[in-house]
Amino acid sequence: MIDTCESTSIVIFGASGDLSWRKLIPALYNNFKKGRLAECANIVGFARRFYNDDAFRAHLREGVTKFSANTFDSTTWDTFAERIHYLQGNLDQADDFPKLNSFLLDLEADPANRLYYLATAPEFYGPVSKHLGAAGMSREGTDGMWRRIIIEKPFGRDLASAQELNGAVHSAFDESQVFRIDHYLGKETSQNILFFRFANTIFEPVWNRRYVSNVQITVAESVDVGNRAGYYDTSGVIRDMFQNHLFQLLALVAMEPPSMFNADAIRNEKVKVFQSIRPIELKDTVRAQYEDYTQAEGVASDSQTPTYAALKLYVDNWRWRGVPFYLRSGKALKRKTSEIIIEFQSPPHMIFSQTDQSNFTPNILSLCIQPDEGIHLRFEAKVPDADQDMRSVDMDFHYRSSFNGTSLPEAYERLLLEAIQGDASLFTRSDGIESSWRVIDPVLTGWAHHINPTLATYKRGNWGPAEADQLLGRAGHQWRFGCVD
Ligand code: BG6
Repeated sequence: MIDTCESTSIVIFGASGDLSWRKLIPALYNNFKKGRLAECANIVGFARRFYNDDAFRAHLREGVTKFSANTFDSTTWDTFAERIHYLQGNLDQADDFPKLNSFLLDLEADPANRLYYLATAPEFYGPVSKHLGAAGMSREGTDGMWRRIIIEKPFGRDLASAQELNGAVHSAFDESQVFRIDHYLGKETSQNILFFRFANTIFEPVWNRRYVSNVQITVAESVDVGNRAGYYDTSGVIRDMFQNHLFQLLALVAMEPPSMFNADAIRNEKVKVFQSIRPIELKDTVRAQYEDYTQAEGVASDSQTPTYAALKLYVDNWRWRGVPFYLRSGKALKRKTSEIIIEFQSPPHMIFSQTDQSNFTPNILSLCIQPDEGIHLRFEAKVPDADQDMRSVDMDFHYRSSFNGTSLPEAYERLLLEAIQGDASLFTRSDGIESSWRVIDPVLTGWAHHINPTLATYKRGNWGPAEADQLLGRAGHQWRFGCVD
């Protein structure tokens, strides 16, 4: 355990929901087991459903055994569970917050830090922030202890609502206290992008318009909308995946080296990427829905919500001017894979006479975010015992084999720890959120008001609509896979 038992109360709003059960409590449990969470930390669930401490702990135990089966042991759980408490209350009732404050003060023997986690429906983010402010629960400084708030996605549904939400949050919390979560930033492989680029010498010199032909970011899911239709049908793939996860990956790939490895330096560079994105033309977008989406329970029968999208965009700066970035994501696709492809330009002049030029594959660097985490470099090699024939081969790095089979931690483990330690590098700043919405908004408005591009349909279990292939085909490019067969 960490030496000093500086106490921290972790308060989860909306604690009876799925996120706590599947992700947050298993992540806190694993941090506790690894000795990274103070033994005197308290975890307090706050939600409308009725539980007493024992029933709440029993419910969470089931989640940890299910979602963290490999690390679960009942002795550790029993010690950990003693720190978990529950208070029933209403998120929209200001009066319940002073009650929560008294409840916390009773638990906290000495002055304690507070980490508030908003695992609630998005409409409560603003009100809960304000109620915390009104109850004096966001104020730091009086006892030397910190107060921080983690806010889940989606952060707004367009620029105006994101600005309004930032206003509500800032009415109670200073930006330095706010941690907007994007779980893609907690994935080991996303964190590794900056290490790969800036802890090595050989990649950065070619990481620009002189050598790169195009960049492709694919976040494909094989699952469909499942039982989340109520949320998803009013949201769609752009709000659900692009504004946050895909744009964060884009920023990590495209950003300039920060002057140092700290939250503000990193986030300054990311914001510059979003600010450099040229307005996206509707002809460079594809929206589609999988074939039987409207039959899912909770989906409007005439729903126009896209479950798949592909975008082509440009980052207009010295490094990237003219290089297309292709982004795609969708549900009910063939396989789950999140990968970033850097496709390099072809050699300026080919000296090998027998090469079939139409079949020539350029060098491809694949950053495999999940599920088979690693990095691959594809290059050309001479086919043995042939005259001048060549074939593409791979140089592969796999986390599993290079790091002795170490299993990669869940994103939430790292993110919760970083928030407790006060490092916001892996969280989004208010200007980052707003600048990404500024790019996305015109696409959403364009789709809502124009007929083109029409909503295409795609079959379950393939890689999306033909229109997405044409989007690249028009520029002589094609979608590449570097991480799945
Ligand atoms: C969430 C989206 O943010 O990310 C989900 O709301 C999506 O729709 C999920 O399924 C994907 O996360 P991961 O880590 O499984 O790629």
